[in-house]
Amino acid sequence: MSRTFVSRRAARFTESVIREMTRLADRHGAINLAQGFPDFPAPRELKEAACRAIEADLNQYAITWGSKNLRHALAAKYAHLGADPETMIVVTCGATEAMIAALMATLNPGDEVIIFEPFYENYGPDAILSGARPKFVKLIPPSNGADWTIDDTALRRAFTSRTRAVILNTPNNPTGKVFAREELALIAALCRKYDALAITDEVYEHILYDGAEHVSIATLPGMAERTITISALSKTFSVTGWRLGYSLAPPRITNAIRKVHDFLTVGAPHPLQEAAAEILARGGSFTNRLSAEYAERRDAFFEGLVAANLAPAARPRGAYYVMVDITGFGRRTDTECARWMVEDVGVAAVPGRSFYQNPRDGRRFLRFCFCKKLETLREATRRLQTAMLRVRPVKAGSRA
Ligand SMILES: Cc1ncc(COP(=O)(O)O)c(C=O)c1O
Repeated sequence: MSRTFVSRRAARFTESVIREMTRLADRHGAINLAQGFPDFPAPRELKEAACRAIEADLNQYAITWGSKNLRHALAAKYAHLGADPETMIVVTCGATEAMIAALMATLNPGDEVIIFEPFYENYGPDAILSGARPKFVKLIPPSNGADWTIDDTALRRAFTSRTRAVILNTPNNPTGKVFAREELALIAALCRKYDALAITDEVYEHILYDGAEHVSIATLPGMAERTITISALSKTFSVTGWRLGYSLAPPRITNAIRKVHDFLTVGAPHPLQEAAAEILARGGSFTNRLSAEYAERRDAFFEGLVAANLAPAARPRGAYYVMVDITGFGRRTDTECARWMVEDVGVAAVPGRSFYQNPRDGRRFLRFCFCKKLETLREATRRLQTAMLRVRPVKAGSRA
């Protein structure tokens, strides 16, 4: 029999369901609320800065760990994390590369890494690529409109002497949860007790609602030396295709991430780095506008879901996703429901199982993203409302 020429590692990965839903949305002309990319323009100032950088012929590699201007702009932005531009920052190809480079730089085969469920779908494969063993800890789903919460007992039980890191994402995809200071304090205490790293994905740090406070775990006592903070321009500046992310970490860890990053991608696009540096150096009024605009989208979409008789699990306090509980809905599983929505209703969402290790745990949910123009969101909720008039609710207890 001939070889498959597919590694055991790659053979373990399934295709990204989110990208599959995007393809189905294109095929059926559905509104794509599956993949988290905006359908509105990026800020004009940023695009103009990028045009200037290209005109200035910045066409060759930047310094592999990031152009000096961008690292200095990031150091000023993250002064509260004590970020030194020369020793603590790596500019990467999106937060995606920052995460895999961070894991490869810090974990050894067999190390355990704790991941909260539901999780952003890259974290499981990232752990596998780095040779580590993911250990999943479920957030408790909300009841009566409250928020997703940490199961303290399960989290304490998950930490052992084999734990090398915990991956955290706040504000959270897919739940919209913003981890509270007390929750982060518990995670921090366990990291200190078991001498583990916190690797924190904060790509939605500026997308917050209802006065929610974003706390970086690196600012908690004793955490600066054991935290890798990851973020990106992708979400804050609505430029997911520019592939600009970064990690902030103590010098010894940064040095290891730089080496992995160099061999993975050499560097992020040079002219776009210069454009980002220019805009970041101008300061932060932009981020207030961002939250206000997203709050309007969140409200319009959330009210639209409720009017359609759909049941959002919780009102998102950050990021731009909402999990909808489909228990009591006329379809049996999340995948059947998502397929019906994309084919017959004209709206693409992601089956909840994509965010869980065991598909059964996610099958009561669909995830919608609302990083779209208000008119797109209104048309999506109009379609959902019309479709839901045709759906007969299922009595409690009758689901398989
Ligand atoms: C939690 C989270 N982290 C990382 C990413 C990817 O970020 P980037 O496009 O900067 O690689 C996403 C994209 O949806 C995300 O939701």
